[in-house]
Amino acid sequence: MTDRLTIRRPDDWHVHLRDGAMLAHVAPYTARQFARAIVMPNLSPPVTTVAEGRAYRERIVAAIPAALDFTPLIVAYLTDGTDAEEMARGHAEGVFTAAKLYPAHATTGSAHGVTDVANIMGVLERMADIGMPLLIHGEVTDHDVDIFDREALFIDRTLAPLVARLPELKIVFEHITTAEAAQFVADAPANVAATITPQHLHINRNAMLVGGIRPHAYCLPVAKREHHRLAVRAAATSGSPKFFLGTDSAPHAVHTKEAPCGCAGIFNAPFALESYIAAFDEDGALDRFEGFASEHGPRFYGLPLNQGTITLERGATVVPDRIGDVVPFHAGETLGWRIV
Ligand code: NCD
Ligand code: ZN
Repeated sequence: MTDRLTIRRPDDWHVHLRDGAMLAHVAPYTARQFARAIVMPNLSPPVTTVAEGRAYRERIVAAIPAALDFTPLIVAYLTDGTDAEEMARGHAEGVFTAAKLYPAHATTGSAHGVTDVANIMGVLERMADIGMPLLIHGEVTDHDVDIFDREALFIDRTLAPLVARLPELKIVFEHITTAEAAQFVADAPANVAATITPQHLHINRNAMLVGGIRPHAYCLPVAKREHHRLAVRAAATSGSPKFFLGTDSAPHAVHTKEAPCGCAGIFNAPFALESYIAAFDEDGALDRFEGFASEHGPRFYGLPLNQGTITLERGATVVPDRIGDVVPFHAGETLGWRIV
């Protein structure tokens, strides 16, 4: 039995670091675990211009102790009015690593998102030309579509036509939660990949709804049935270079989660690696953990692999009930791995 695992330093390819006091509170947790992170731009107002991207990067760097050696990778937030030239300039100047498509009103901070992909086709063509990845929150928003079906339907209505229309565009289908999404990505060309969160490896929708309503297990896309969890888990541990680590750590103050209309988002940054490795261990896939955590992401993005290493070993990690004003994923549980 493997009791210790040393891997190349991992990256988080999808995280919400927020701004202001919350940024100062949460960013060091991500920087302790990861060398780099793709930082989501759904601030209010969102990060839409090169100048805003540069300023946000400076605020993140200022929030993290220099000793932690962490590089935030900034993402542009696409709107119906996004200018292709601004995206290309941001990419060329090393400010925007990628751009994010939020269907309008799909999730937290998506009110300024795209109402119809047709509205940004010129931007996406330009991104395909310059090799700038498109990151997608893949859920339809139609009111008549059941929330548990919104991801699968997005594939048929939007993602599959987009991949057919722009076969060169690099696309990351973010935080996949369904068997349909895992299958679509596995079958797609090499320039289509997906991130997977720790919560979607561990919980199904019962975690939210059985024995009482549990707001801290609520995120978007919402956790699905057990067979979807198993399919997502099989994708993560498959060794396929198309699947890589993206926590979607999304902190919200406790009073905004425990409310009549609670916010979507799970704060998993403090113990993300301990959570992921537990799932790989349960599935007998520890030998595939480094690929998922540290290699597939940078290769997809065309970035260098990290140089340092991190070691995890079997041992108790006790997850506290609260971290400041935020309830972490696995609150009150003990995980079976710890960072050395
Ligand atoms: C995210 C947030 O809070 O910003 N929430 C979530 O449930 N994942 C937004 C998102 O990624 O959908
Ligand atoms: Zn997210």
